[in-house]
Amino acid sequence: MTQDELKTLVGQAALAYVTPGEIVGVGTGSTVNKFIDALATMKDQIPGAVSSSEASTARLKALGIPVLEAADVAELSVYIDGADEIDAQGNMVKGGGAALTREKIVAAQSKRFVCIADESKMVKALGAFPLPVEVIPMAAARIARQFVAMGAQAKLRLKDGAPLVTDNGQQILDVTGLQIADPLAFESEVNQWPGVVTVGVFAHQRAHVCLLGTPSGVKTLT
Ligand code: 5RP
Repeated sequence: MTQDELKTLVGQAALAYVTPGEIVGVGTGSTVNKFIDALATMKDQIPGAVSSSEASTARLKALGIPVLEAADVAELSVYIDGADEIDAQGNMVKGGGAALTREKIVAAQSKRFVCIADESKMVKALGAFPLPVEVIPMAAARIARQFVAMGAQAKLRLKDGAPLVTDNGQQILDVTGLQIADPLAFESEVNQWPGVVTVGVFAHQRAHVCLLGTPSGVKTLT
């Protein structure tokens, strides 16, 4: 099976976690796109979705799924999103698609995080994938130096030769050379550096369920 087929498999499997009559939280990325396509088949059974990015909002709307503002919804029962890395405890690295801040916000207002991924995303310890950190531009150089002081390297993410601008008007640093032994402590520490908007470690908002696409089918980790 190709990676794309594995993503389709888990995107469809995630429909089992959508409760008819309830609003669903929707993440961002190529795996979530498969979920959004599957969600269109039950669009008449849900009031709509809360989206984590402009890209997902556009796809949801194009398929006729109403998109509600996060601020207008108190709590969601489920949030479905992909990951760049996930460990056995459900801690994740996210933000490969630059949507980490809104992803963390929607995850925080959801009772359950269902992570959908192909099995290549499963790791023993977080840190091999360059860690995305959304930063306020005036602080980017100083935050990069703070990572260097930790023995890591931080690169400003570019798009078409210019610094990428997130949906929130900020920038992304991609950090390599990290060993994230304690994801919860690491997330808490980096979060309080001035100018950090969101660090792409999702330990406080870890996944409660992970649907992993494997050649022999969908593996469910809880
Ligand atoms: C976007 C994300 C994505 O969930 C993550 O990058 C995985 O994407 P994909 O499903 O395309 O591999 O965090 O900010």
